[in-house]
Amino acid sequence: MPFSTIVDDLAARGWSLQSSFLPSDVTHKLADECRRRHAEGTLAPASVGRGEEQAVREGIRGDHIHWLEAGQAEVCDAYLALMDELRRTLNRELFLGLEEFECHFAFYPPGAFYQTHLDRFRDDDSRCVSAVLYLNPDWQPADGGELRMHFADGSNLDVPPLSGDLLVFLSGDFPHEVLVTRTERLSLTGWFRRRPADVLAL
Ligand code: OGA
Ligand code: MN
Repeated sequence: MPFSTIVDDLAARGWSLQSSFLPSDVTHKLADECRRRHAEGTLAPASVGRGEEQAVREGIRGDHIHWLEAGQAEVCDAYLALMDELRRTLNRELFLGLEEFECHFAFYPPGAFYQTHLDRFRDDDSRCVSAVLYLNPDWQPADGGELRMHFADGSNLDVPPLSGDLLVFLSGDFPHEVLVTRTERLSLTGWFRRRPADVLAL
């Protein structure tokens, strides 16, 4: 398990891209789960913001999501267990104090995108590390839908949403966007969270 490169990359530069993090039989099963939920109509349009500011804005993000809950499918439980192992490794090696992992399937229909944003809410900095697993085995450059990372020096990196690849980054440090996709684009997007500051203050 290449956890040690994730740890080293996060410590050195704040992000890590692991190609073929998961084998194709596992990513196929995860993609099937995502498609099954889409076919059942249980994926909901994703919203932006929190609390009273929360709203569905297709002009900002056009994906549909389904939050993972334990006990729904064996392959999802295996992924949650793996991410928990990564969480404990990050805590042990980098003292991040991550308490939980939350993740959702995201389904981008053709034409969808997600404008540049940080994975933090203005009033809640509990999301600490983002982890996106891609689920598109036949992705081609003409399909678009790359994740574009924006770095402080003005440079960019376009990450193709290729099946089995895992992108991990510090949630508050890298503005990023999903470029317009021309085909259906599937991912499993998650966040390792610390306790929100208002809970720690109690
Ligand atoms: C997100 C996000 C990136 C991706 O859901 O916050 O940035 O590549 N997703 O799916
Ligand atoms: Mn994001």
